[in-house]
Amino acid sequence: MYRQLVYLVILLVSARVYGQQALTIIDSGRNTSLRGLSIPDDNAVWVTGNNGYVGRSVNGAKSFEWLQVPGYERQDFRDVEAFDSNTALIMAVAEPALILKTSDGGKSWKRVFEDTATGMFLDAMDFAEDRQHGIVIGDPMQQHVFLAVTEDGGDHWKALDPSATAEAVDSEAFFAASGTNVRLIWDPAVEMADLLYVSGGKRSRLFINNEPFDIPIIQGKSTTGANSIVVPDSTGAIIVGGDFSNDTLRTNNCVLVKFDYTTKEVTFETPPEPPHGYRSCVALAGKRLISCGTSGVDLSDDGGQHWQLITRQSFHVARAARDGKKIILAGPRGTIALLLF
Ligand SMILES: *[C@@H]1O[C@H](CO)[C@@H](O)[C@H](O)[C@H]1NC(C)=O
Ligand SMILES: *[C@@H]1O[C@H](CO)[C@@H](O)[C@H](O)[C@H]1NC(C)=O
Repeated sequence: MYRQLVYLVILLVSARVYGQQALTIIDSGRNTSLRGLSIPDDNAVWVTGNNGYVGRSVNGAKSFEWLQVPGYERQDFRDVEAFDSNTALIMAVAEPALILKTSDGGKSWKRVFEDTATGMFLDAMDFAEDRQHGIVIGDPMQQHVFLAVTEDGGDHWKALDPSATAEAVDSEAFFAASGTNVRLIWDPAVEMADLLYVSGGKRSRLFINNEPFDIPIIQGKSTTGANSIVVPDSTGAIIVGGDFSNDTLRTNNCVLVKFDYTTKEVTFETPPEPPHGYRSCVALAGKRLISCGTSGVDLSDDGGQHWQLITRQSFHVARAARDGKKIILAGPRGTIALLLF
């Protein structure tokens, strides 16, 4: 009896930790769907969305100040990469596809990349740990994945020649769902980065340094496929996605990737207890994983094998602060939430 009581107390305590009360809404109500989120240090948090909105916190997400980038009020800024509270790059998907940079906390913005080609659609950016090497991925142009790179912290960008990038197949494309379907993993020892990205739509694949791998994730429709990848270490990665037109469907919405560096083998498995629906973003918070989407938020404590639903509230993007104890989520109607452990 005593043992059972102790067990019950432990269960209640862990339910509380996972419970909805841990999720605090910090800001909400603005007419913007937030999909860009960057937490460069303990104090600075940047979010971006459509209708030209940029939100910035300088006090670790206690409060946000908002602006609509002058002249870009109609742009959909689906991703942001910030280096501190002053310096950030924001990416607008299309018409025209562009990247703006600020070095004064959002007071002024410089256009550092623009492509007006028809069909051009940017999906996500990522920067390596050195904050100099960065990449932006876009939907295929001329049947090849669009990639542009920077080596100076985003001041200058160079589009790669289509012949140098992977070929897209079967109307394969990319989702601009949370700015997290591309990851640059910098290896200082060899001064090179590994590039990982996931495609979606009619076909959904993982690319490692532009080499494609078929993955067991739902695909075949324009609304299906992989939306996000996180690479916790050199042994594996976690991919999430699903079908955003049926966002409670749990079939093939998550893939666990294992790398074997010696044999160069890459293997895939689907978790026994996947997230509870379509997920647009997966992020690492210490050793814990979080995934979120329009049908809710899940946590996993075992590398993505088992996922527990913590809320059905809709969020597009999640990121953890550097210490892994604070997670920030952002989503529809300018909503920003904080999850503390
Ligand atoms: C909110 O933004 C959308 C465009 O994204 C616009 O059509 C709509 O009129 C806006 N609503 C309000 C209340 O301003
Ligand atoms: C969503 O998925 C469920 C489970 O497979 C299925 O029963 C349902 O018909 C689907 N709904 C739509 C709108 O496709």
